[in-house]
Amino acid sequence: MIKVNNLTFSYTKKSFIRDLSFSVFEGEIFGFLGPSGAGKSTLQKILLGMLPGYQGSAIVNGTECREHKSDFYESIGVDFEFSTMYDKLSAKENLLFFSSLYGRKSRSVDELLRMVGLENDTDKRVSDYSKGMKSRLNFIKALVHDPKLLFLDEPTSGLDPTNSRLMKDIILEEKKRGKTILLTTHNMQDAAELCDRVAFIVGGQIFALDSPHNLIMSKGAAKVSYTWNDNGEQTASCPLDRLSEDKLLNKLIAENRLLSIHSSEPTLNDIFIEITGRTLV
Ligand SMILES: Nc1ncnc2c1ncn2[C@@H]1O[C@H](COP(=O)(O)OP(=O)(O)O)[C@@H](O)[C@H]1O
Ligand SMILES: [Mg+2]
Repeated sequence: MIKVNNLTFSYTKKSFIRDLSFSVFEGEIFGFLGPSGAGKSTLQKILLGMLPGYQGSAIVNGTECREHKSDFYESIGVDFEFSTMYDKLSAKENLLFFSSLYGRKSRSVDELLRMVGLENDTDKRVSDYSKGMKSRLNFIKALVHDPKLLFLDEPTSGLDPTNSRLMKDIILEEKKRGKTILLTTHNMQDAAELCDRVAFIVGGQIFALDSPHNLIMSKGAAKVSYTWNDNGEQTASCPLDRLSEDKLLNKLIAENRLLSIHSSEPTLNDIFIEITGRTLV
């Protein structure tokens, strides 16, 4: 669905995105995970044909991105990071207007508004919407013409946990309906939960690309943490596959002195830090 080869792009004289290559397969949820300023939105904009001055190749839906014609936009839906609605129109008027721009049969606007819990605010002007409401409205705007490819830029950013859950369930539902979804996020929980594959992005570079499960397994040996009492509670840990070599642990076991012991796998966040040397914020 998307094939990027040796992609290089710069806003200034210095190249920002350097020599990126990756593919996104039909029907998968593919994530760009990285901290703010990593280049996630820039990459999406290149794939949308909004930044045609790149080198290398970026093919979406069979066409080189710098050559996209307007019919390309019939097949994609975009949820930009910032609201792209007309403030003076109501939510419903906005959706009806945007759906009228497409040749394709549109989905029911009322149904979409209900899906994100805005059924009682359909006639409210967007200027009177809260940030979270705008974000949900912006999201369903991407679905209105039922496109096969969705670009979602930080879809859960700024949402409370309930609405964030709602959006994630809808995204997974869209995947079940056969959509291909490319999303950006700086939230590792979202990436781990939603994405079939994730690219770690920092400074315009991909540092790793795999399924969240494989990324976690590739680096992270599971760890065992334990506590004991020695003038107050003490804590130590050791890799799960080296327990027999941990002299202290074995001594504590022999003396029945352990207060607690548990094993844990690293999170995607731990792996991100280990691979990129950066945190996700
Ligand atoms: N239009 C622009 N002109 C110049 N620099 C830009 C422009 N848009 C983004 N940048 C810079 O490119 C870098 C990556 O931005 P962006 O792709 O928005 O990152 P992310 O989405 O990962 O937070 C940032 O340093 C940002 O300041
Ligand atoms: Mg961004």
